[in-house]
Order: sequence, then structure tokens, then C-alpha cells
Amino acid sequence: MKAHQSLFITFEGGEGCGKSTQIKLLSQALLEKGLDVALYREPGGTKGAEEIRALLLSGIQERWTPTTEALLMSASRADLVHKCILPHLQKGGIVLCDRFTDSTLAYQGFGHGLGYEATSALNQFTVGSLTPDLTFIFQLDPIIGLERTENRGKGKDRYESFDLSFHKRVQEGYAEVLKKNPDRCVAIDALLDIESIAKMILEEICRKVQQEYPV
Ligand SMILES: Nc1ncnc2c1ncn2[C@@H]1O[C@H](COP(=O)(O)OP(=O)(O)OP(=O)(O)O)[C@@H](O)[C@H]1O
Ligand SMILES: [Mg+2]
Repeated sequence: MKAHQSLFITFEGGEGCGKSTQIKLLSQALLEKGLDVALYREPGGTKGAEEIRALLLSGIQERWTPTTEALLMSASRADLVHKCILPHLQKGGIVLCDRFTDSTLAYQGFGHGLGYEATSALNQFTVGSLTPDLTFIFQLDPIIGLERTENRGKGKDRYESFDLSFHKRVQEGYAEVLKKNPDRCVAIDALLDIESIAKMILEEICRKVQQEYPV
């Protein structure tokens, strides 16, 4: 059971669409309101999960098979959920997570072709009934997203080196997630400027809080 007034919000989308930029702005805005906010990223967030992140994000594409990759992602997620996310929600806090289960559906399910059903079942096994209250899905042409990551100047991680067709399938995966979860997911036009997106996100959260905890 969810604790009173806890809120679990996830940010999803392809490479370079602005998730981390926005989640940091949101975290700052909520902290300034005096709220109890915890910010995590996936894969990662705990010591063990950060070690798994390093395994997943570095090295050549063929380093992991799609199935191994999905299981490593899930191992990282299980650690984060049980050590950090659930405890914070149970004490009534707000959890913001930069990627979560929908990334597995989009990247491993669609990008790698493991399929929606198989990756849904894996997600269910990994997190049980834990579902975000709200998910922002950033939509951006992967060509532009990959250009943005290049301009970031940090070098390519393993996913950024996958070919364009992979990233297009990831986009299709996210479109499917949106279609299947219209109450939970909100599409964000990632071409808009940073300030406009931040404003829209805050407005959506206010709407959600009114809906879940009407005064
Ligand atoms: N709305 C925007 N318009 C233009 N550029 C943006 C916008 N939002 C973020 N950026 C820039 O695009 C780059 C990628 O942004 P960011 O790192 O937030 O994306 P991300 O979705 O977290 O990427 P990744 O999938 O690699 O984690 C950064 O250089 C950031 O400053
Ligand atoms: Mg990021």
C-alpha cells in the first residue's frame, strides 16, 4: 500500500531528450517548496546498481546479449527499489526517477526486440506492483537527440553507439507505452525550450496531486 501523500514520478524517453535536465530542475523546485524529495537515476542509484550501470553503459555493443542486458537492468532496478525507492515512498516522500520500468519496455522490449510481453513480465517480477503515479515521456526525433548528446561533449556511451534504427524502435516502444497507459503517462514535446517544459511538468504534477489527494 502506498503511504499517505507519497508521489513517485518517472522521466522517460530516448537519448538526449532532456530528461536529466528537467528532473534536476524539478527536484530543485520541489526542494525549494520544502518537500521531501529523493532523486535517483537508472541504471544506478545504489552502490551496487552504480556498479551494474558501469557494466551496462561502457564497452562495445555486443558486450551483452539483449537478455543479459535486460536482466542486468532489472538487477540494478531491484536494488534501487528495495533499498531506496520503497523506503522513501513508505515514509511519505516524493521520489523522482530518471528512467524506470518503461525504459526496459522501450529499449530491451522494442529496441532489442525482446517484446512487450516478455519485458512486462520481467518488470512485474522485478518491482511487483510498484507503478509510478506519473510518467513524463519525452518525445524527440532520435537524430536530434543523438546530436544533443554529442554536443554534450562527454563521449558516447554504449547506447549512444547503437544505430539509428535501434533508437527509432525505442521511440516506437515509448509510443506504445503512452498508448497503453494514458492515465499515468504524459507526452512532452522535447523540442520546446527548457523553461516551457519545466513549467508544463510542474503544472501536470499539481494536477496529479489534486486528483490523488483532493482537499
Ligand atoms: N529543451 C531543450 N532544448 C534544447 N536542448 C536541450 C533541452 N533540454 C536539454 N537540452 C540539452 O540537450 C542535452 C541532453 O540533455 P539531457 O542530458 O538532459 O538529456 P537526457 O535525456 O538526460 O539524455 P540521456 O538519455 O543521455 O541521459 C544537454 O546538453 C542539454 O543541455
Ligand atoms: Mg540523462
